[in-house]
Amino acid sequence: MKILIVVKSKHQGNTQKIAEAMAEVAPVTIAMLEDLKCYKLSEFDIVGFGSGIYFGKHDNELIKCVKGLCNKKAYSFVFSTSSSKNFRKNNSSLIKLLESKNKVVLGSFGCLGYGKLLFIPISRNHPDIDDFEGAQKFILDIIERYKFQRND
Ligand SMILES: Cc1cc2nc3c(=O)[nH]c(=O)nc-3n(C[C@H](O)[C@H](O)[C@H](O)COP(=O)(O)O)c2cc1C
Repeated sequence: MKILIVVKSKHQGNTQKIAEAMAEVAPVTIAMLEDLKCYKLSEFDIVGFGSGIYFGKHDNELIKCVKGLCNKKAYSFVFSTSSSKNFRKNNSSLIKLLESKNKVVLGSFGCLGYGKLLFIPISRNHPDIDDFEGAQKFILDIIERYKFQRND
């Protein structure tokens, strides 16, 4: 089992911390988006994509990367950190984009991340221990869902 997590975490490093928490409990390689050309996506069983949410969506460069994927069937997941709790809505457009590229999206995860909007701090102290534990439970669930789908 090999999992690649592609991360763009440009504001506070929050999303990278979530990816690192996942990597503590699962066979995860973390690729910063800038370094993605060093990795061959087809060598991984599952590829996850995550970033902070900026103006209601994932990072533009991450979206561009997903738009550039081939249409071969593969397994993926989506995650994000954001200063407000619209997790499902925040992740929905990247999920749809992956599905349009013939990717099976096994699940999505979102949690709060500290941000400074117009100099005003929001969701201070996040991600916190509960967020990290939530991310770890999520990645273990993703592995189970993948195994179930493959045996189906
Ligand atoms: C320019 C900017 C725009 C943002 N837009 C949103 C937003 O639309 N919704 C939200 O919940 N959080 C928003 N945030 C907060 C970030 O999503 C949050 O801080 C996130 O954890 C940043 O992730 P990162 O540290 O991995 O880049 C914004 C932050 C910045 C700096």
